[in-house]
Amino acid sequence: MTKLTTFNASDNHVQNRLHLNETNSDKLQVLDSLFLDEFKKISTYPDPSNAELINTLAEFYHVPKDMLILGNGVDEIVLLMCLTFLKGGKSSLIAEQTFPGYETSTIVVGGKNIKVPLVNLKCNLERFKDGINDDVAVAFLCNPHNPTGSLMRINEVEQFIEVMNQNNIIPIIDEAYIQFADEQKHSVLQKIANGANAIVLRTFSKAYGLAGLRVGFAMGPKALIDLVAQSALALPFRVNRFAQRLAGEVLSLGTLEKTVQEVNGLMAQLTAQLSQNNIEFVPSSTNFMCFKPHHGTEQLMARANHLGTQVRDCTAFGLSGWIRASICSQQDLHNLLNLLSIVPVEAKDEELLQTCE
Ligand SMILES: Cc1ncc(COP(=O)(O)O)c(C=O)c1O
Repeated sequence: MTKLTTFNASDNHVQNRLHLNETNSDKLQVLDSLFLDEFKKISTYPDPSNAELINTLAEFYHVPKDMLILGNGVDEIVLLMCLTFLKGGKSSLIAEQTFPGYETSTIVVGGKNIKVPLVNLKCNLERFKDGINDDVAVAFLCNPHNPTGSLMRINEVEQFIEVMNQNNIIPIIDEAYIQFADEQKHSVLQKIANGANAIVLRTFSKAYGLAGLRVGFAMGPKALIDLVAQSALALPFRVNRFAQRLAGEVLSLGTLEKTVQEVNGLMAQLTAQLSQNNIEFVPSSTNFMCFKPHHGTEQLMARANHLGTQVRDCTAFGLSGWIRASICSQQDLHNLLNLLSIVPVEAKDEELLQTCE
């Protein structure tokens, strides 16, 4: 059997976590009271119809309620999609180097993966076309792309949907990081709400800072969502009551804009530092960067281990020689630059001043 990807997400390491593309929850303290309020009902099962959160999402995104389904993270939704659409051992079409959840879910439901190469570390429509055959039932496109951070332009994503539709393949667009890339400009969510035949996946784990809550959603044509909901009947209480209560609140808190602005500012600083130090990297539309350290990944991972900074060796994604690291605070940026032995120019100036004093 294919060896499935595993990783360390242990809570023993709550500091210096640059390896799972999380953000922080500093701005979410106001939700404490709601959390405690919900705790009073902890002895009772959560609402299996997820009615309140579905209503909030439908209003927020201006989509009909019956086009939405929630999940215990997008991870679970991907599994439900595979359970539903790959019956009888059908195939899913994925990029060779991509978010590992698509491959894992496909394999555990008894399906097959057809993998197509990236071109210049970006998803490429022509390569996806090459992978199409009669056995393919779904095509997963991660946009912006994990682990490279690259973005496929909206017109190309629309073409991707069109091509898959022509071949009776369900296009599933995973927009886990879309908020960092300018949602209004690059998302297909509204196009699907207006009738495009595809499914979009969204999570609260990244830009919204709620990875520990485990909640995400899929939006797509009612007929497809109904089929997925049938599979989901096996797990009636998948979305816990804290997730159902808090995820809707976070949409209207106004914290997203601040987080995205901060992260994008930090990513711009990181981009400049990598360029100045001639470190090869993929321009990123996300909260993480994929780069090629000068002395190889083995040496960098050993140093990361020594410093207690967690980053991801992309060999696990099939990208040997590359490292992925996310940042969401000045401290993260500092830790990453320190890992790369980069002393930012301003810091160098300060050090010089101090030695002259
Ligand atoms: C592209 C992509 N999709 C989905 C997920 C999983 O999201 P969730 O936390 O909602 O399960 C991740 C998590 O890293 C991801 O990178």
